[in-house]
Amino acid sequence: MLNVVILAAGLGKRMQSDLPKVLHTLAGKPMLAHVLDSARQLKPARIIVVVGHGADRVKQAFEGQDDLHFVLQQPQQGTGHAVQQAVPLLDGDGKDDVTLVLYGDVPLVQPETLQRLLDARGQGAAVLTEVLADSTGYGRIVRDAKGSVCRIVEHKDASEAERLIKEVNTGILSAPTAKLKDWLSRIDNNNAQGEYYLTDVVGLAVADDVPVGAAQPGASWETLGVNSRVQQAELERRWQGEQARRQLEAGVTLADPARFDVRGSLACGRDVFIDVGCVFEGQVSLADGVRVGPHCVLRDVSIGPGTHIEAFSHLQQAQVGRDARVGPYARLRPGAELGDRSHVGNFVEIKKSVLGEDSKANHLAYIGDADIGARVNVGAGTITCNYDGVNKHRTVIEDDAFIGSDTQLVAPVRVGRGATLGAGTTLTRDAPADKLTVSRAKQLTVEGWQRPVKKS
Ligand code: UD1
Ligand code: CA
Repeated sequence: MLNVVILAAGLGKRMQSDLPKVLHTLAGKPMLAHVLDSARQLKPARIIVVVGHGADRVKQAFEGQDDLHFVLQQPQQGTGHAVQQAVPLLDGDGKDDVTLVLYGDVPLVQPETLQRLLDARGQGAAVLTEVLADSTGYGRIVRDAKGSVCRIVEHKDASEAERLIKEVNTGILSAPTAKLKDWLSRIDNNNAQGEYYLTDVVGLAVADDVPVGAAQPGASWETLGVNSRVQQAELERRWQGEQARRQLEAGVTLADPARFDVRGSLACGRDVFIDVGCVFEGQVSLADGVRVGPHCVLRDVSIGPGTHIEAFSHLQQAQVGRDARVGPYARLRPGAELGDRSHVGNFVEIKKSVLGEDSKANHLAYIGDADIGARVNVGAGTITCNYDGVNKHRTVIEDDAFIGSDTQLVAPVRVGRGATLGAGTTLTRDAPADKLTVSRAKQLTVEGWQRPVKKS
């Protein structure tokens, strides 16, 4: 049985923020949520989050996630003291029962790395370590003549010789649960910082003849912690770079992998092209051959094969069929559904509406709460007046209708199949099929009229 303990009680003073550190985001998601995602992939029996500073806000942010247990550490007396708070909730005392300790401010550790750490422990404990060119500030991994891990010494407690060690403790470790409880009951705070160090359990394990293994992360960014906005921004770029690399490996063309942001998940088909400066949020899927122009925002959308999204378009909770053209400067709001080969041009806003196959709204229009059939042309300046100040009403436009420019469709209203609306029409009653309907004052020319002249 696997228990996961996540340390998240620290203050995060250097963030200069009222928000608890672990709620600060990376790729649009709280750091702690990243850690939880990785932890959950290991299918733990229990996840215990040790909270302290801003405990209520942290708990609130994860309300309703029933697999989580929160324990309070108050005051914060070190990493060992933090894990001690979780002891009453640690389950299982068999030889296969293991506890994994993670940090809430080390968001990007990957499940594969954690699995390697669990594998490295054999029947004992294991620490996740890394060799750094500059190991200043970290706990150092002290190994014996045979190369086995014998203890961890914190930078502030280390001797001159120990400070030369380049292998450092990332802070992440795994240990047999029953033994861990015992070791935690035996650590003290007789050290340079007067804290209860979790790292002291390593020395106790070795003294008890319990082997201590070591594993290394798959990539160096996995174990980077965030203590400041600078580190947060740096890690964000590293992670976006990694996501870009994965897309490139999978066959997506990115105009510039350094100007690419995914805050959620992005699934791409074959031969997708993405220009610079796009932001993908939530769940986005781009089918084969989709092209996304520069500076588009796509949130929770799915785009059909061969469709082009042109520059500066903003799409949210929308679906677009195949071989459609959207933008530049298009806005698709929640509930917009665009059919195959449809065109939506600049400054067209569509909300909770279906635009049928081969239909076009090429310029300057608002389409809200409308059902538009196939092969409909919506002229420039057309507006569905869907809101009477109290309620929303639907507009129905049947197949092959032609909506002249600057038309207002005062909903609820229906335009019949093949109907034509003359430019400037304010449609307040249904327009019959196959006929021209127009509401317009008759044009007249005043004979003999003269422009006024300036009085001297
Ligand atoms: C710790 C390790 C050190 C390692 C380093 C890696 C110890 C004694 N030292 O040092 O070997 O190289 O991490 O970054 O473990 N926390 C609590 N409660 C506390 C103290 C800390 O929840 O009382 C949390 C913090 O919020 C943070 C994590 O534990 O998420 C690590 O704490 P931090 O103070 O950064 O540890 P270091 O002193 O850097
Ligand atoms: Ca730290």
